[in-house]
Amino acid sequence: MCGIIGYVGERVAQPILLDGLQRLEYRGYDSCGIVTYLDQKKSLSVRKLPGKVKDLEKLLKSKPLSGSCGIGHCRWATHGAPNQANAHPHLDCKSEIALVHNGIIENHSQLKKDLIREGHVFLSQTDTEVIVHLIEKFYRGVPLEEAVKKAAALLDGSFAIAVISKKEPGKLIGARRGSPLVIGVGREENFLASDIPALLDFAKDAIFLEDDEIAVLTGRNAKIIDFSGKPVKRQPVHITWDISQAQKQGYPHFMLKEINEQPKVLEDILGQRIKQGSRRIAFEELKIPQAKLAAAKNIIIVACGTAYHAGLCGKYILEEVCPLPVSVDVSSEFRYRNPLVNRGDLVISISQSGETADTLAAVREAKFKGAITLTICNVLGSTLVRESDGVIYTHAGPEIGVASTKAFTAQLAVLYVFALYLGQLKKTLAVDKLNKLLNQLAAIPRMQVDILKKQNAIKVTAHKHHHFGSFLFLGRNINYPMALEGALKLKEISYIPAEGYAAGEMKHGPIALIDEYRAVVCIAPESKVYEKMVSNIQEIRSRRGIIIAIATSGDEKIKDLTHEVIYIPRMEEFLSPLLTAIPLQLLAYYVAVKRGCDVDQPRNLAKSVTVE
Ligand code: AGP
Repeated sequence: MCGIIGYVGERVAQPILLDGLQRLEYRGYDSCGIVTYLDQKKSLSVRKLPGKVKDLEKLLKSKPLSGSCGIGHCRWATHGAPNQANAHPHLDCKSEIALVHNGIIENHSQLKKDLIREGHVFLSQTDTEVIVHLIEKFYRGVPLEEAVKKAAALLDGSFAIAVISKKEPGKLIGARRGSPLVIGVGREENFLASDIPALLDFAKDAIFLEDDEIAVLTGRNAKIIDFSGKPVKRQPVHITWDISQAQKQGYPHFMLKEINEQPKVLEDILGQRIKQGSRRIAFEELKIPQAKLAAAKNIIIVACGTAYHAGLCGKYILEEVCPLPVSVDVSSEFRYRNPLVNRGDLVISISQSGETADTLAAVREAKFKGAITLTICNVLGSTLVRESDGVIYTHAGPEIGVASTKAFTAQLAVLYVFALYLGQLKKTLAVDKLNKLLNQLAAIPRMQVDILKKQNAIKVTAHKHHHFGSFLFLGRNINYPMALEGALKLKEISYIPAEGYAAGEMKHGPIALIDEYRAVVCIAPESKVYEKMVSNIQEIRSRRGIIIAIATSGDEKIKDLTHEVIYIPRMEEFLSPLLTAIPLQLLAYYVAVKRGCDVDQPRNLAKSVTVE
């Protein structure tokens, strides 16, 4: 996945493009570049390199670019290594057109062969370069948007592109299919970006492009046409996020800031969704008729990565409250499995970005099979939101750290509240149980604060164990998905091999791994399976395993059996993931920082995987 930024207006483009790339860098950071139209020379001038935006900034200090129209890109390599030639922007043969791209052109090889045969000269190994040469081929006596339209018609795969040409200075073109692109509407200026954080400094209104649409922007005008050339009318959406939410605010990393934001996020979700006094649960934006939700006989959850782990918790949550059969699938499996989906089944997709390619494809497959599709999503107007029958926003604010933290617990919170809502619709939730759960949920933000207050102790534990070559995470019942999530958090930011397992599976294989060289994190809060977890801990201890336990405050017994204990406040097992998540996130964070890893931009990863 990559980040795209574009500007056209009265101001000098360079600082605006750089600022936008800094806010987009979590989408891809192995190379970057910008291009502007130089009015005096009547030419396009490019600055690009393998490396981060700060390296590009340094280059531009010595070789600045003027011009009030330009585009920029930060890359997560899919075709061609991260090097100078493969960095975007890419130019046509005559350096009259410049283009940046997010997505994958599936038929780029054949197109490239045809274009080379027609005399085009390629300078990179990217699929992207094919697009700019195609536009060049059609850009004869027609406006740039017309040439873009003709080129797009030949492309298979996904793309969000921004294009400028020296033949039409002051015009910025955007086009998309399958990858996000949003217009930022300014005063006497307009912007293009892959997502909202890049616009926060400049525009308060955004227009989301839909698939097969082209944006034609000048400083004074923003119009949209579809790929048939028909004008499209779409109202701007007011951007509610403010810029401070997309800044570190004194924290060393976005990830630590976002871990510490969780109590406030949870409080906001509970406050927005549960009407004080009446305690009525409401989801204003959920456009699915209540009768349809109540009539659903099956729930299928599809998601990827951390969102998938939230979905696994969702199975325990929904089956406990509703109760009806809930299956959970990773999107990339669901979409190719020819899944059994009945008309009227409720398919819930969970996604922070709303742009994850596999989850999008899974939802399209579910819709094709007649399911009702609901997405739990964090990004206003994202593709998943626009393609689902209904949405419940997590309202966690922009999550910049690549490793998902506050968005994850926000997904859990929405799943709890939605389960209560659905249980009421299906009349399977007694009032006293509803009130008890609402009271317990209301107490959780304070409990999260209590855990965060002790994060230095967790830091000490992390530092003592950061040298281990591998970790095993064990949990049972609703904390089994938390073991998977704890392992993912650790491995994706510290690069330490880490595995999450159902503790009951220990004897079926993983116990062979146990020795004094492996750290085992056991999630063992007070629960109906606590004694089973203690047995697991004793089995590990007898094989000299090093044990870090997450346990309920006051549990002295577990202290005698383990090397380290991270305590969490006493809470019903059913709601404990909202608490166990925090020590798992902090443990991963402090181990990774101690190992000198780039916590916010881990190697090889990107914030949202908008390609397969
Ligand atoms: C989580 O820490 C990872 N960054 C990744 O697994 C992520 O959860 C996954 O790619 C799904 O992203 P989404 O929630 O935007 O769909």
